[in-house]
Amino acid sequence: MNDTQLASIPRGMCSVRAYAKINLTLDVLGRRSDGYHELATIMQTIDLYDTICMTIAGDSQMHMTCSREDLSRADNLAARAAQLVRQRVTNAPGLRIELNKRIPVAAGLGGGSSDAAAVLLALRQWWGLDFSQQEMLDMAASLGSDVPFFLTGGLALCEGRGERVTPLAHYWPTTMRWLLLLKPSISISTATVFRNLTSRDYSDGKYTRSACSALSAHTNPKLEDVHNGLERSVLETYPAVKQGRQAMLHAGAPFVRLSGSGPTLFAPFSELAAALQTQQYLQAQGYEVHLACPVQPNMESISVFE
Ligand code: C5P
Repeated sequence: MNDTQLASIPRGMCSVRAYAKINLTLDVLGRRSDGYHELATIMQTIDLYDTICMTIAGDSQMHMTCSREDLSRADNLAARAAQLVRQRVTNAPGLRIELNKRIPVAAGLGGGSSDAAAVLLALRQWWGLDFSQQEMLDMAASLGSDVPFFLTGGLALCEGRGERVTPLAHYWPTTMRWLLLLKPSISISTATVFRNLTSRDYSDGKYTRSACSALSAHTNPKLEDVHNGLERSVLETYPAVKQGRQAMLHAGAPFVRLSGSGPTLFAPFSELAAALQTQQYLQAQGYEVHLACPVQPNMESISVFE
C-alpha cells in the first residue's frame, strides 16, 4: 500500500470546508445479507459546513483536535481519513488536524462523512498525490456509506448502501430555495434506526425514481415523492422528533421531512423572509434551527497556503 512517494515535504497549511447534506428522498429497498440496507436516495449538499485546518506536525504523529472535546480523538472519521492517506505515502509527515464543528453531530446531516471526504480531497491536493478517482472512492467507501457522495457533493443519486454515486443535473426545486433545519436535542445512531425498520418501511425505489425524473426534466418533484423510508420508525421511537415536526408545521412550514436517519428535520421555503420568520418563531420556543440553502462545492472549498 505504501507506494506513493512525496516529491518534497509539504509545508504551510491547508484549510477546507466540509458541507452538510440533506436527503431529498430515501427509499429503503430491503435488508442485505451483509447486514446493510439497499438504498436509493437523492442527496444535496447545503451551505452548513465544518471547517478543517491541517498543518504539518513537528513529530511523525497524527494530532486530532476538535471544537467538541468528545470528538478530539484518533477515531474521529477525519483523523481516520488522514491515516488512510498517510498509510499510502512512504514518507508521510506528521499531521495536525483541527476541526471546527458547526454541523450538528449524529444528526442525519452527514457531518462526520463530509469531514472525512474533505480530508481525503484536501490532502490529495495539498500533497500533490496522484490518487485515481477509484482509489479515492475505495478509501471513502471504507470509511462509511455516505463518504463517497461527499467527494463530489452537489445533487446526486446514491445507491447500493449509499456508496454508488451518480451526479444529477444541477436543477434544484424553486420551492426549496431555502431550507430550515430543526435539530431536536437528541442524537440518533444510524445503526439503531436501520435495526428498527420493518418490511412495511421498504419500497421499490419508486419515490427516488420519480423525483429523479422530475429533476432531470427541470421540474419540481411531487411532494409525495419527497419520501424518507426511515421516518416512520424515527417518529414512533423518538417523541422529541415528533414534537419538533409538529412545532415546524404549527410555525407555518409547508412541509416537513426527516433528513437521513435524523433526528434533523427539514422544511423547504421559496422565500427568505418566510424562512427567517419561521426560524425566529421556532428559536423563541427554544429549538435549534439552522437556515441553509443548497450549494455545489468546488475546488475553492480547499485553500493551500505556503
Ligand atoms: O456506513 P456507515 O458506517 O455510515 O453505516 C452505519 C450503520 O448504519 C451501519 O453499520 C449499518 O448498521 C447501518 N446502515 C445500513 N444500511 C446502509 C447504511 C448504513 O443498514 N445502507
